[in-house]
Amino acid sequence: MAQKFLTLGQFIIERQADFPYAKGELSRLLRDIGIAAKIVNREVNKAGLMDIIGDVGSQNVQGEAQKKLDVFANEQFIAALSSGGECCAIASEENDEMIHIESAVSKNAKYVVSIDPLDGSSNIDVNVSIGTIFSIYRRISLGGLATMNDFLQKGTQQVAAGYITYGSSTMLVYSTGHGVNGFTLDPSIGEFCLSHPDMKIPRDGVIYSINEGNYVHFPDGVKKYLKYCQVEEEATNRPYSSRYIGSLVSDFHRNMIKGGVYIYPSTAKSPKGKLRLLYECNPLAFIVEQAGGLASDGFNRILEMQPKSLHQRCPLFIGSYEMVKKAEEFMQKYSTPEVQ
Ligand code: AHG
Ligand code: MN
Ligand code: MN
Repeated sequence: MAQKFLTLGQFIIERQADFPYAKGELSRLLRDIGIAAKIVNREVNKAGLMDIIGDVGSQNVQGEAQKKLDVFANEQFIAALSSGGECCAIASEENDEMIHIESAVSKNAKYVVSIDPLDGSSNIDVNVSIGTIFSIYRRISLGGLATMNDFLQKGTQQVAAGYITYGSSTMLVYSTGHGVNGFTLDPSIGEFCLSHPDMKIPRDGVIYSINEGNYVHFPDGVKKYLKYCQVEEEATNRPYSSRYIGSLVSDFHRNMIKGGVYIYPSTAKSPKGKLRLLYECNPLAFIVEQAGGLASDGFNRILEMQPKSLHQRCPLFIGSYEMVKKAEEFMQKYSTPEVQ
């Protein structure tokens, strides 16, 4: 039977015309990420079979135990981006400092990539969906090695961002600022195929996703918003449903499709929240806005924050437009940015 679907590679080439200034470098970079994603997917699928689960013994810069798959995924994305030659430096959750790709620097590579190679890693050994999140910027430094300033650009400056979810099927979703498109991996041919063209997040929803176990430590605005979600009111379809997987990518992806809000606020334990601005909040904020949703820290737009360090944390309220707006209303009424 004749081929009816569009593969990621074909789609990227078709869309290259969206970037008159680019000579195919960004397309190659996205293709390289797609290749690494397939390799990581293969290992994720084998996680229960291989001796690949469990702590590897080291800790990442956040002091969290690294799982073997975190390390593997990190190596795969770094290898793919290094051999591709379009990315001159990488900031990864798993590396304290930025990684320079000297062979690409000598070829005047124009891009830098921030990445969470494996998100939701505590879910690996229980067979629950995990993911990858990435963000791409054009470097702003001129020649030589990349600098911190290349990574500390505001989220508005992203040229592309995306995520991969390794779930009941594996999907790659990305945006270059011209809408959002989702591709599902067809394992029989080893290709990501366009399955979710021009994705839009429902403007409103009935799902809220938050680790409610931290309730006592939440800011008052979040506590009051959660109570609002739980009140019965027919007109607004409340009470809402609570859904929390514990993998940001998976919770975000479900809400993208069904409509919902994901919240990781500041807590007493993590006064700045838990999630990382560069490789968790900004890329998903870029995607959600492209899909018609919102991303905020409760008060301000995520994409306009000025990053100060590679592993900076940030509270996150992300998802359907109306739900994020409502949560922000509660924050503005009952909390202040200073005492979040
Ligand atoms: P990572 O596995 O990359 O460290 O990220 C884990 C993050 C995110 O995926 C998830 O939403 C959140 O941590 C869950 O945190 P809690 O266990 O505190 O709810
Ligand atoms: Mn993560
Ligand atoms: Mn991670």
